[in-house]
Amino acid sequence: MGRIQLLLPEVSNKIAAGEVVERPASVVKELLENALDAGASRVAIALVDAGKTLIRVTDNGEGIHPQDLELALAAHATSKIRSAEDLFGVETNGFRGEALASIASVSRVRLVSKRAQDPHAGEVTSDGGKQGPSRACAAQDGTTIEVRDLFFNLPARRKWLKSDSTEFSHTLDLVQAIALANPEVALRLSHGERLAFDLPAQSQSERLMALFGDLFAEGMLELHEHEPYAALDGFLAPPGTHKPNSRGLQLYVNRRPIRDRALMQAVMLAYREFLPPGRFPVAYLFLRVDPATVDVNVHPAKTEVRFLEHNRLFALIKSAITERLIGSGVLPRLSFARPAPAQGFGPQARPDSPYEPVGELTSAPPGQMFSADAL
Ligand SMILES: Nc1ncnc2c1ncn2[C@@H]1O[C@H](COP(=O)(O)OP(=O)(O)OP(=O)(O)O)[C@@H](O)[C@H]1O
Ligand SMILES: [Mg+2]
Repeated sequence: MGRIQLLLPEVSNKIAAGEVVERPASVVKELLENALDAGASRVAIALVDAGKTLIRVTDNGEGIHPQDLELALAAHATSKIRSAEDLFGVETNGFRGEALASIASVSRVRLVSKRAQDPHAGEVTSDGGKQGPSRACAAQDGTTIEVRDLFFNLPARRKWLKSDSTEFSHTLDLVQAIALANPEVALRLSHGERLAFDLPAQSQSERLMALFGDLFAEGMLELHEHEPYAALDGFLAPPGTHKPNSRGLQLYVNRRPIRDRALMQAVMLAYREFLPPGRFPVAYLFLRVDPATVDVNVHPAKTEVRFLEHNRLFALIKSAITERLIGSGVLPRLSFARPAPAQGFGPQARPDSPYEPVGELTSAPPGQMFSADAL
């Protein structure tokens, strides 16, 4: 090994960016979350080449103070927290003051913003993290950020990007997940000439229908379970609807989409006796907890969190879903009439099941069942 040296800022910034910016969907996530944090009631996202060439996010939120424009692209610069203690009461999506700096270090960025009280807008640009001075320009109230040529200066990363259709499907999943948690915000997503959706402000069930289709949304069971330490609301697909993977299972904490293997397991356990082996339920679950009981500063992309009340949340999710499914009357029925098939969905005990098989699972009545594989 050679001597120890401090890394040049452009190198350390690229390393930091690697934690936050993996693909176009990660950029869209950060920009959309910033727009929501700014109180926007309307956000438009436009992509060219699935975001590899251009990602533009326009919002009508509160905008940025003209003298803060240059700081907005700097690392560790945020308007959302002031002290380390604030981390345990975060109610905004962002708090690290890292996202724009990370994005700017691996792309070409143009940031335009105007507050309602200012006479004109300001603009600042950055090329691979090399930032120019801000200047006045004309624009409507709110903020527009354009991110061009993602990873142009990090060819090793660019090489990892998948086809446009794969990258777009990651972005679509992500925007849909955030859209469902923020139905009061009008949201538009376009890809090249194609409009993926243009949703008005609406109720959450209207948004579910708009995003996933009436047929799917109408079959969903609503869940509302409120305890002193947490509230759980959600939409559960009836057991006749299932997927070959867990992509239809989305958990939110205080509107933030998260991944939590243990809490996912609680959902799986609740559905276990009602789904064929190897299939996954479709459910959107919104947990609301006191921000002081969640540590959001665990993962650079903020998709993982830690809970003080983890065990209680696990029990809440499992029991609330189980009761809702049992109470719904659309459960698969146990049938002893037909002989078991040689293989497939037969009554074999699952390797992980403590229960002996008791009969063949038949599916829910027609009209209450369809495959969600295509969703
Ligand atoms: N769309 C926007 N509207 C208004 N202000 C914005 C917008 N986007 C960014 N900002 C301002 O720029 C600052 C820096 O944004 P950035 O995303 O880098 O950090 P953050 O949101 O504070 O934290 P994080 O890194 O966790 O996202 C924000 O704190 C906010 O003040
Ligand atoms: Mg942010």
